[in-house]
Amino acid sequence: MKVGDAGVIDAIRARRSIGRLTEPAPDDDELRQILEAAACAPDHGELRPWKFVVLRGKAKDAFGEVLADSYLARVQAIGASPSDGQLEKERTKLGRAPLVVIVCAVNRHSDEIPWVEQLLAAGAAAQNILLAATALGYGSMWRTGPPAYDHRVLHAIGLDDRDAIVGFIYLGAPNAGRELPPHEPDLEDSVEYWRAPV
Ligand SMILES: Cc1cc2nc3c(=O)[nH]c(=O)nc-3n(C[C@H](O)[C@H](O)[C@H](O)COP(=O)(O)O)c2cc1C
Repeated sequence: MKVGDAGVIDAIRARRSIGRLTEPAPDDDELRQILEAAACAPDHGELRPWKFVVLRGKAKDAFGEVLADSYLARVQAIGASPSDGQLEKERTKLGRAPLVVIVCAVNRHSDEIPWVEQLLAAGAAAQNILLAATALGYGSMWRTGPPAYDHRVLHAIGLDDRDAIVGFIYLGAPNAGRELPPHEPDLEDSVEYWRAPV
């Protein structure tokens, strides 16, 4: 089947990271479409090595406390002093969008499919979320940072230490008038046409 015209390519080029997003967020039906797009990612062995944790409303506020506590624990673990500013930033950072999806790579412990491939599948799912959101007219941003690599944050969403947080995907409406231009990618130094040595 040929996918319609330039729609996908347009969405790929138009997708830009937008740091501050506002209401409206995707509604439940749109979120379902977005998460189904995520679950269409290529997935070697059909292991479904992912989980999508949705944070909206009060859950988002409560998860801010998880992020703040994990920041305090990280600082204490190295014997440093927390900064009030950073603590508040951790507590409130999820407020940068009305909806956040944590994309997790869940390790299926397969003998055939290496963990790196499961991680890549979850990364492809994250990209599908960005593209589906773009196609539906929403802004998005993929973020990580120290919380993504903190076992306390993983445990708070039911992951264990052999799983991974691939990203915190922020979703919402872009602020009007602050759109970034579509990508104009430069392939210089990125592409080679391999030829057999003569
Ligand atoms: C795995 C991953 C992690 C990222 N983490 C962050 C982040 O923590 N903070 C941030 O500002 N951007 C983050 N980004 C977004 C990139 O900075 C952004 O995609 C890049 O600047 C290019 O901009 P564009 O998305 O508009 O093309 C991340 C992207 C990826 C793929």
